[in-house]
Amino acid sequence: MRILVIGAGGREHALVWKIAQSKLCDKIFCAQGNAGIAQIAECIDIKADDMAGLIDFARREKIDLTVVGPEVSLALGIVDAFQKAGLKIFGPNKKAANLEASKVFSKELMVKYKVPTADFKIFDNPDTAKKYIEEIGAPCVVKADGLAAGKGVVVAKTIDEAKHAVDAMMQEKIFGEAGNRVIIEECLEGEEASILVITDSKEVIALASAQDHKRVGDNDQGPNTGGMGAYSPAPVVTKKLFKEILDKVIYRTVDGLVREGIDYRGVLYAGIMLTKEGPKTLEFNVRFGDPETQAILPRLKSDLVEIMLAASEQKLNLLRSLEWDERACVCVVCAAGGYPGNYEKEKEILGLDKAAEIKDVVVFHAGTKLQNNKIVTNGGRVLGVTGLGKTIKEAIDKTYQAVEKIHFEGMQYRKDIGKKGNFCFDSR
Ligand code: AMP
Ligand code: GLY
Repeated sequence: MRILVIGAGGREHALVWKIAQSKLCDKIFCAQGNAGIAQIAECIDIKADDMAGLIDFARREKIDLTVVGPEVSLALGIVDAFQKAGLKIFGPNKKAANLEASKVFSKELMVKYKVPTADFKIFDNPDTAKKYIEEIGAPCVVKADGLAAGKGVVVAKTIDEAKHAVDAMMQEKIFGEAGNRVIIEECLEGEEASILVITDSKEVIALASAQDHKRVGDNDQGPNTGGMGAYSPAPVVTKKLFKEILDKVIYRTVDGLVREGIDYRGVLYAGIMLTKEGPKTLEFNVRFGDPETQAILPRLKSDLVEIMLAASEQKLNLLRSLEWDERACVCVVCAAGGYPGNYEKEKEILGLDKAAEIKDVVVFHAGTKLQNNKIVTNGGRVLGVTGLGKTIKEAIDKTYQAVEKIHFEGMQYRKDIGKKGNFCFDSR
C-alpha cells in the first residue's frame, strides 16, 4: 500500500516509524514531515490545512490510505473531503471532530449521555461569566470553546486570574472565534491519565494507557506545554479503573455519538482525572496524543496499518485483539530554550547517532529540519527521546542515558518523566 501521513511532529514520526514496519506498507509519504521522518518517508511540502493540495496529491500518487495526525485538519473536515473524492482516510469526520473542536459540544454530549465530567456552565457573555466566577470562587477552570492549540484552558488559582482569562478569551479574543463562548468549570484534583482507543462506531479497541507531563518544569511546575514527556503504561490506571473508564467514559461516548447520528471512525482520546469520586473526563481529543503516541506505539506489536484500515472500513470486529510488549516505555521531550514562550530556531543538533545506538532507544523528531546537511531545530518541541525497559525505572534510565548524548544550544528537558509511574509500576 501507498500511505500518506499528514503532520510534522513527534507523533507523526512515531506513526510513520510504526507504519513502515507494516507488511502492508510499500511506500510512505508525509506532509510535511521533519528531518527524522525524512529518513523513512518521502516528505512533501503541503500544509496540513491545504485540503485541495492534499487531495490532489493523494489522487496523483494513488495513495491507498491517508492517516491524519493533527486536529486542525480533522476539524476542517479533511475526512469528509477525502471520502467525497473517493479516497480512503483514517480519522473522524468533521461532525465527529467537534468532540475536540468544540468543548461546548463535548460537554453537552457528556451530560446527555451521563459521561462523568467536571460540573460546568457555558457563557457567551463575559459579564455573566465573571459574575458566575465570583459566585463559585477559586480555584476554577476557564476554557475557550474552540481550538486554541492546547492553550485554551486556564486553571485559575484566584478569582482575578479566572476573570482575566475570561477577558483575554472573550474580549481581547486571543484565540479568535474560539473564545466566543467559554466554559467555567469546577477544578478537579487527582492524577491524570490518557486513555486512547480506536473505534469505528461499532467496535472499540483500547490502546495501552499513558500519562502525559503537561507542565514545562520538574514536579509539574511552570506553564502548560504541548507535553514534555509521556510514559506507558500508566500503572495508576489499574485493570479495574481501566474497565471503569471504558464503561463510563468511552462506551457511553461512542454510543452517544451513534445515537446523535455521528459516525465516528478513528482514535478517540479521553483525558481523564482520577478523582476521589472516580474517573472524570477532562477533555476529548479526536486523534493520537502527542507525546503519548511516542510512548504507546513502541509497545504495540500488532500491525497498526491493519487496525487503521479496519477502522476506516468499519471492520474492527474482524481484528484479533492487540498484542503488546509488556515492557514500559518512556518518552522525554527535548525542547528549545524558552519554550513554551519565545524560542530560537536553527540550532544544530549533535549526538543523535550516539543516542540511537543505545539498544531499545528510538529518537523521534518533532521540530527539526535538514539545513546544509545538518539537522537543526525548527520548533519548540524538538525531539522525543524514547526508551523501552523491563520496568519503568529501566526505561527511564535508558532514555535519560540517550538524552545525555544529545545536545543543542538552549536544550531543556524535564528530569522527572515517568517518576510518578515508577512508584506504582514496581508495586503493582
Ligand atoms: P484540556 O485541554 O481540557 O485537557 O485541559 C488541559 C489541562 O488542564 C488538563 O490536562 C488538566 O491538567 C487541566 N484541566 C482541565 N480541566 C480541568 C479541571 N476541570 N480541573 C482541573 N484541571 C483541569
Ligand atoms: N498530549 C496531549 C495532546 O495530545 O493533546
